[in-house]
Amino acid sequence: MPAPGNVTMSSLYQRVQRVIPPMEWPAFAPDIDAIIRLKRERRAVILAHNYMTPEIFHCVADITGDSLLLAREAQRVDADVIVMAGVHFMAETAKLLNPGKTVLIPDTAAGCSLAASITPADIRLLRQRYPGLPVVTYVNTSAAVKAESDICCTSGNARRVIESLGVPEVIMLPDRYLAANVARETGVKIISWAGACEVHERFTPAEIRQLRAENPGLVVLAHPECPPEVVDEADFAGSTAAMADYVTDHQPGRVVLITECSMADNIAVLHPNIDFVRPCNMCPHMKRITLPGLRRSLETLTHDVTIDPAIAAPARRAVERMLAL
Ligand code: 13P
Ligand code: SF4
Repeated sequence: MPAPGNVTMSSLYQRVQRVIPPMEWPAFAPDIDAIIRLKRERRAVILAHNYMTPEIFHCVADITGDSLLLAREAQRVDADVIVMAGVHFMAETAKLLNPGKTVLIPDTAAGCSLAASITPADIRLLRQRYPGLPVVTYVNTSAAVKAESDICCTSGNARRVIESLGVPEVIMLPDRYLAANVARETGVKIISWAGACEVHERFTPAEIRQLRAENPGLVVLAHPECPPEVVDEADFAGSTAAMADYVTDHQPGRVVLITECSMADNIAVLHPNIDFVRPCNMCPHMKRITLPGLRRSLETLTHDVTIDPAIAAPARRAVERMLAL
């Protein structure tokens, strides 16, 4: 979504009117106005994940996308300050790639069940247990965990990363479902971990079958953090960006995105002719990022993301190795 430079508040509302009722807009408008002004004053950009609510995604974000795109774009940002409208590991990744810039996260408690499921000590133990196997860590991990790994991946490039290693067996952490889905796609044996995304693991095959029964012609798109039995019920599985591209390219008449709630709202804004069926699993961590929080973050330049240099160097190597592919 382009930066709202000199757009008017009424043109911003037109963008989101399909998903934000008119009576709710006055609660958002003053913060949006202030954030646009503060970004100019601070020479700041807002990077926003696809799971941000529409008033953030469509009205104040400068760059939007999946985890892979946000990491790539963080490398190219020309600004003094980067504000991450996403969760903590995303802000850390942006900081790893921009050690000289101020990177802010509006709420330090915006975590992730995957990132919380594994520690650097766990990886050291796994390396002892499976000597010689490369360690691939999902980008949904702390910088300290990335520092213990050989290369990172996201849901958008997991297959490519695994195949690039050219070995029959790898350690891939911490999402057991992503690992199982990628193992099936690549034929590579994957030693995984017991982590799971608390949003995607709640979807079930029975739920998908019921949605199909209730909504004739439904096209089902699922995120690969869903269990393999759920992915089996879908017509397509891919990262949040891949799902958005699928909708743009195929223009299904009726579609459901088996992922976090805000994703469908954000894409629905762009496709008025598509019927979006919206079962809703919300990520409580992503939802800690709000317009008032973003405004406060820009006003007070908090919370500044810092990473111990001893961790930052090896963690950056793992992220850059992924981005170089
Ligand atoms: P992607 O946007 O990379 O598909 O990741 C989804 C997710 O759950 C991020 O927290
Ligand atoms: Fe983590 Fe899942 Fe939330 Fe993404 S949606 S931040 S993977 S808990």
